[in-house]
Amino acid sequence: MTKPDISWLWPALILGGAITLLICLSPAAPARADTVSRQETEKYCLSCHGNDPQLSRTLPSGETLPLYLSPDTLAQSIHSHAGIECEACHTGITTYPHPEVAAQTRREFSRDLYLACQKCHPGNYEKTLDSVHATVAGEGNLNAPVCTDCHGAHDVRPPNEPRAHISETCGQCHNAIVEAYKESVHGAALLGDDNPDVPVCTDCHGVHNIQDPRTAQFRVQTPELCAGCHADQQLMDKYGLPANVYDIYQLSWHGVDVAVYKSRWPTIWHDSAVCTDCHGVHDIRKTSDPASHVNPANLLATCHTCHPAAGSNWTAAWTGHNEVSLKRTPFVFYTQAFYASFAPVVLWASILYVVLQIIRATVDRIRRNLP
Ligand code: HEC
Ligand code: HEC
Ligand code: HEC
Ligand code: HEC
Ligand code: HEC
Ligand code: HEC
Ligand code: HEC
Ligand code: HEC
Ligand code: HEC
Repeated sequence: MTKPDISWLWPALILGGAITLLICLSPAAPARADTVSRQETEKYCLSCHGNDPQLSRTLPSGETLPLYLSPDTLAQSIHSHAGIECEACHTGITTYPHPEVAAQTRREFSRDLYLACQKCHPGNYEKTLDSVHATVAGEGNLNAPVCTDCHGAHDVRPPNEPRAHISETCGQCHNAIVEAYKESVHGAALLGDDNPDVPVCTDCHGVHNIQDPRTAQFRVQTPELCAGCHADQQLMDKYGLPANVYDIYQLSWHGVDVAVYKSRWPTIWHDSAVCTDCHGVHDIRKTSDPASHVNPANLLATCHTCHPAAGSNWTAAWTGHNEVSLKRTPFVFYTQAFYASFAPVVLWASILYVVLQIIRATVDRIRRNLP
């Protein structure tokens, strides 16, 4: 019996799969209402909301809610360009008078309406539920940001153009950190030269699922966070920086200590130094900068945070990120060279000694047993 010829089936299946994939991957767009009626709706809403800059209402809390939308604002929105109409978000409003508003305060109003974003961006919405911002909101801190605090509602634009805009977004609420960051080697390069190689807030913290960075788990992972760039030979060559700081750190007492905790007890807090303990977090500076925590003038004070008894030659004896070399650290170099040759010699000599002893003993026994 011959098998039925199903070779035609494969192209059909692949085509079908590709179409399904395309449908799934394309950003969710609103049902394509015909353009005329869309413009009619928008015109209708804007006949009141786009006319009178003074239009506003008072919420039960006594706060004023401005209700005017300028055409300029709307024209900037990426959603307007994508053909998304008022009703796509304001699903409950079709005519005037509008349904009652449940929110008592301005903040409650924002926290109710932002839920409209989840319809078309469910992935990002779910991520935010897992973030430290959602956790603090759950604990009653309503200042924690929702989509519209970071993106706006009617003037949503690509959030990373220019990239420096991201730090401004976070800076609305974390101003002190952003000020420190601006002065740092990373922040200065971003804001001054729009340098794409340096980290912004979201490179280290994530975007929608930001986690609490002060946990033991986050701490033991920070060296890898820095290594993402500082162990990248090509990237570091561009700035004349060594790309082996991470490797040498890993061989150091601190690095080994942290690696052990990371693999064995990632949830147990341990003080052994990670990169940020020495360099700072948001205020990392060039080593040569007098304000750097690792500048020779400040280094001992930095070690003192954990080694309060360290004397002034403590830092001089420490090799830091440098490979041991004859030129820079001759004493350590010779000590290492001595042990590197002396230890094997001692080891082999001991082995030889033991082997000779065994041979000697065996020979003696055989001799004794001879008639
Ligand atoms: C006839 C004028 C008029 C039209 C048309 C109109 N609105 Fe309103 N809108 C108002 C006024 C006035 C308020 C203030 C609250 C009130 O009086 O109900 C308001 C309030 C609002 C609010 C704030 C929440 C609330 O209910 O107070 C939203 C959101 C809103 N309108 C959206 C829309 C959308 C979307 C459309 C188009 C589908 C629209 N409006 C059409 C006049 C209008
Ligand atoms: C992408 C979703 C989206 C679209 C499209 C949209 N809105 Fe809104 N709108 C919101 C959200 C979210 C809020 C709540 C903003 C806040 O936190 O104050 C809001 C608030 C409002 C308010 C209350 C005043 C304010 O700014 O908070 C009015 C009035 C309003 N929208 C009218 C309109 C009209 C008219 C259109 C169409 C031209 C429109 N909206 C299109 C999401 C949208
Ligand atoms: C009706 C579906 C719909 C709703 C509701 C909606 N969006 Fe969008 N959003 C889109 C589409 C489609 C795009 C892609 C537009 C484009 O690329 O031209 C988009 C793009 C974006 C972008 C830009 C992404 C980028 O890569 O630059 C952001 C940010 C965004 N939306 C945030 C929001 C926020 C915040 C809300 C709620 C206030 C919201 N969206 C509500 C459909 C929607
Ligand atoms: C704490 C501020 C913040 C909050 C809250 C936030 N975003 Fe974002 N979002 C950003 C930043 C910053 C970026 C750009 C990240 C980058 O390029 O590194 C971004 C990127 C995006 C993008 C484009 C890239 C992508 O992931 O598709 C969309 C769409 C988006 N956000 C939608 C949302 C929606 C929907 C919500 C609410 C459920 C939300 N965001 C909440 C800050 C925020
Ligand atoms: C609308 C205000 C707002 C915005 C915008 C905002 N945050 Fe927050 N964030 C908070 C609040 C409130 C907390 C809770 C802790 C507090 O009170 O400082 C918090 C907590 C955090 C924490 C946890 C550490 C802590 O102090 O609890 C991190 C990390 C964080 N935010 C990072 C970011 C980043 C990164 C951005 C930008 C992408 C951002 N936030 C944008 C309000 C904001
Ligand atoms: C190079 C990586 C990196 C960058 C870039 C970065 N952070 Fe952090 N951030 C960290 C680390 C690591 C911690 C934990 C520090 C600690 O142990 O206290 C932290 C802690 C925090 C905290 C909580 C602790 C505190 O000091 O209040 C907030 C909030 C925060 N960062 C916000 C931001 C914001 C906003 C930006 C952008 C301006 C930013 N971070 C940029 C690595 C980074
Ligand atoms: C996204 C890539 C990236 C990440 C992540 C990153 N850096 Fe950097 N870092 C750079 C670049 C690029 C420079 C050079 C900037 C310049 O000189 O303009 C730099 C410069 C530095 C310098 C200054 C060196 C000198 O003396 O000139 C130090 C120190 C530093 N980073 C430490 C860290 C630490 C610690 C972390 C982790 C908490 C970290 N960096 C995370 C890219 C990164
Ligand atoms: C965040 C805290 C912290 C900082 C900052 C820190 N260390 Fe350490 N260091 C430790 C811990 C914890 C150990 C491990 C002690 C142990 O396992 O008994 C350690 C161990 C050491 C050791 C080997 C063991 C020993 O005690 O002799 C040396 C050497 C050392 N550190 C040097 C330095 C130098 C130099 C600096 C400053 C450049 C520094 N450390 C900064 C926490 C820190
Ligand atoms: C115990 C303190 C300490 C720790 C931990 C530490 N550093 Fe350093 N770092 C220093 C000191 C001191 C210098 C300046 C002298 C030197 O080069 O050894 C320095 C210099 C640097 C430089 C500039 C190198 C140059 O030649 O210009 C970079 C980049 C750097 N460190 C990144 C890191 C990264 C990434 C980590 C984590 C993997 C880290 N550091 C961990 C103390 C530390």
